[in-house]
Amino acid sequence: MDREEARRKIEKLRRVLNEHNYYYYVLNQPRISDFEFDMLMHELEALEKQFPELYDPASPTRRVGNDINREFKQADHVYPMLSLSNAYSLEELVDFDRRVRKDAGADFLYVCELKYDGTAISLVYNRGRLQQAITRGDGTRGDVVTDNIRTIRSIPLVLQGEGYPDHFIMRGEVYMPRDGFDRLNRERIERGEEPFANPRNAAAGTLKLQNSAQVAKRPLDCFLYYILGESLPTDSHYENLQTARRWGFRIPQVMERHGSIEEVFRFINRWEEERRSLSYDTDGVVIKVDSLRLQHRLGSTAKSPRWAIAYKYKAEQAKTRLLSISYQVGRTGTVTPVANLDPVLLAGTTVKRATLHNADQIKLLDVRPGDTVYIEKGGEIIPKITGVDLSLRPPDSTPVEFITYCPACGSLLKRNEGEAAWFCPNETGCPPQIKGRIEHFISRKAMNIDGLGEETVDLLFENGLVQDPADLYHLSPGQLVHLERLGEKSAANIIRSIEKSKQVPFERVLYALGIRFVGETVARTLARHFQSIGRLREASVETLTAVPEVGEKIAGSVVHWFADPKNTELIRRLKEAGLRMEIAGDPGIAEGPFNGLQFVVSGTFTRFSRDDIKTFIEEHGGKVTGSLSSRTRYLVAGGQPGPSKMDKAQTLGIEIISEEELVRMAGT
Ligand code: IVH
Repeated sequence: MDREEARRKIEKLRRVLNEHNYYYYVLNQPRISDFEFDMLMHELEALEKQFPELYDPASPTRRVGNDINREFKQADHVYPMLSLSNAYSLEELVDFDRRVRKDAGADFLYVCELKYDGTAISLVYNRGRLQQAITRGDGTRGDVVTDNIRTIRSIPLVLQGEGYPDHFIMRGEVYMPRDGFDRLNRERIERGEEPFANPRNAAAGTLKLQNSAQVAKRPLDCFLYYILGESLPTDSHYENLQTARRWGFRIPQVMERHGSIEEVFRFINRWEEERRSLSYDTDGVVIKVDSLRLQHRLGSTAKSPRWAIAYKYKAEQAKTRLLSISYQVGRTGTVTPVANLDPVLLAGTTVKRATLHNADQIKLLDVRPGDTVYIEKGGEIIPKITGVDLSLRPPDSTPVEFITYCPACGSLLKRNEGEAAWFCPNETGCPPQIKGRIEHFISRKAMNIDGLGEETVDLLFENGLVQDPADLYHLSPGQLVHLERLGEKSAANIIRSIEKSKQVPFERVLYALGIRFVGETVARTLARHFQSIGRLREASVETLTAVPEVGEKIAGSVVHWFADPKNTELIRRLKEAGLRMEIAGDPGIAEGPFNGLQFVVSGTFTRFSRDDIKTFIEEHGGKVTGSLSSRTRYLVAGGQPGPSKMDKAQTLGIEIISEEELVRMAGT
């Protein structure tokens, strides 16, 4: 066979196999037998092997994943990935309806969908091909997990049919069906591995595996429920999704349009029971305004759109026996009582433990070992005990005496005035506290040191290599290789990642320090306000509480933390190691002719790629945003700009410029 003939044959096989994938995985209506499918696949594999130059990442043979083990790259979301505001009662939905109706008038439709309980994904399609798959991340930037997503058979790599926009984004939920989840957990238990807590965690964990060949073996699937782009087929969310099904997407069948909130209630009531017979987990109903124009008019808050809401079904309850109570010590020394339960099935997963929060909670519930208790799963992963069936209490039971000594180090526990939690005061000598602080320090939202998990931290600590976060910066590859389970490659990775963490901005370093009550947001506020660790250390309770959003509790904790000489010493050593202890200025905004100007770009350019033009603007001091608003100064329009953007720019009176004009204005 010559090359040209092979190319034609390969293309045909790819197309045919993609179609059969669609019939099988999306429509659930296979048109050929598994055997015939395998034969076609083998033929394609053989040809691709013979003609490696005809490689295509979108070939159906690529769905098996690969063994490349690498860290994920990150990418920006072109449109931020918002979450939905939640409603727990029908009254809240009535309020939502009232707000929408105020803007919309009487005549509009809602789309009711199920709320799939998995992990969100954003798929970028360019000219009919899957280009990138990005996780939610922080909503503006996520991990690129394209190789992993390709292994999900129902996600089209190449679109079929016609009429799809050149460039658009498809969002949906990656989930693990219940039977697949049970099977996976059974296998994990057999291999002596920790089972996943629920299908959602299993799906999210699987998507983050570094080895896509492993992902291919896990039973993931995906529903797509949101399409975003500039030239979508119609003004209706519902219609657009139906059309997208014809392009090859697995759009949920359960989706209804309704004209009134009463009809929405009926949908909710019907699915409260019916959803239990589905093969996957759902935890509510999502209600969306159908018209894109109206969606646009309603807009979004920083967190969630005003045109949609999620109604959450009440948590399920189960009844089981409390076998015993054990106590866990966290990184701040807080002692949390944990209930060990007779395993029971709750909302599709087996529950063995539940949190009891603190001593007051135990007293309040008067829960005792041997009791039959009610457990509930809220939004949290760990279920909680909500009550006791007193009629089943064993006659000889006695109230729980909360422990008085730390279960980890034996210190006498303390309790602060007005606080519910008992804590172990032995900050520097209590192992779970030391390890917890290091684990927090290296966590993703803090210093983001990958390669170092809980187990490695344990090893480092047990071997006396690390006592506090600053010790990490003195580790050598040689020391690491000697630890059990760590090879040379992982050791080198860890060292590299520790080195890289020196670039982490000050606000995250501050968060990483693990000062009580200083979470991500507070750390950011404090970093921006005080600019450097030196100035923050000098701040008094009064200066701190003068900062918006900082109350007495936070202020007291910050002052207390800095008053401890051990912490001053820790900071000195971290500074010496080269960590950022002050704000470096906003790295996103350079000095230049575009200072203070906001741009939106649309279309294709001759001099620049889409990313390059953004960089160009930013390097000249400008800011680029995704959508037009009254603050936008210029719309830079290339070839085939989005018509809705052009219209909107005209309505808002925003100046439209070409890339040449942009370059001229930059003076380059
Ligand atoms: S629409 C801007 N539809 O719930 C709105 N989300 O808390 C985009 N989810 O991030 C989301 N089922 O991960 C939408 N039918 C559905 C959904 C759904 C589940 C998830 C999704 C989203 C989260 C919101």
